[in-house]
Amino acid sequence: MSVHSQGKRISVPQLRAYKGQQKIAALTAYTAPFARLLDDALDMILIGDSTAMVGYALPNTLSITVDQLAMHAAAVVRSTSHACVIVDMPFGSYQESPQQGFANAARMLAASGADGVKMEGGAALADTTRFLVERGIPVLAHVGLMPQYVNTMGGFKAQGMDEESAERIMQDALAHERAGAFGIVLEGVAEAVGRRITQTLGIPTIGIGASPACDGQILVTEDILGLSGARIPKFASQYVDAGAVIRAAVEQYASDVRDGSFPKLENCFGVKKSGQ
Ligand code: KIV
Repeated sequence: MSVHSQGKRISVPQLRAYKGQQKIAALTAYTAPFARLLDDALDMILIGDSTAMVGYALPNTLSITVDQLAMHAAAVVRSTSHACVIVDMPFGSYQESPQQGFANAARMLAASGADGVKMEGGAALADTTRFLVERGIPVLAHVGLMPQYVNTMGGFKAQGMDEESAERIMQDALAHERAGAFGIVLEGVAEAVGRRITQTLGIPTIGIGASPACDGQILVTEDILGLSGARIPKFASQYVDAGAVIRAAVEQYASDVRDGSFPKLENCFGVKKSGQ
């Protein structure tokens, strides 16, 4: 049985209560059409800063802004009524101080109506998590492979592959749990690290390239639909080639325009149906 009541958006406390009860199914969405299609099937939708790479063809996630993500988040909130909606804190919008983080998180939630924010960062950012949570902003922490640290990590590299790194990620996760995070995204970590953190924490872990043992999973929607236009990451799985379906439809449309079979008179205004 689902732990959420039917017909209402899943709240952050409900999502937190999934721990040990049911797995959390989550995906990203950046726009209204995708959000509408995803909503009923999912527990959580994330407006990830991955939209910088997936939606804007940028080389990394660093240049997406608070205003851009807030616009995407508002579209997703307006198009959904079931899944809990979480929006990413963009690079540079919270690392300076807890106060800066609160001001930008509050701005994004006010502009979009999202339920909470996700923040990348290890134990050093736990004070910011606490500052936000104590002031009414739910925080989903994100540790392990943190794409906003691409320049310090020297690329998008799996983490926790040795004991020291594994222990650091465990301490990062524990610090955010103690600070009041309602959940933790574990990205790109060794399987044993994802499993151990999931077993240790009292809050849900949501894995992406982490472990099947995590309390939930999240992927980038375009990766599972075959719309990424690139090789999908090892940790993702493509469920359909929607790209092929869309290409075929567009080719048919172009051919119909060129040979005059579109538009038909029924697509035009001021044309009486025959017999009228
Ligand atoms: O930005 C994003 O989409 C993410 C998820 C894939 C976890 O951080």
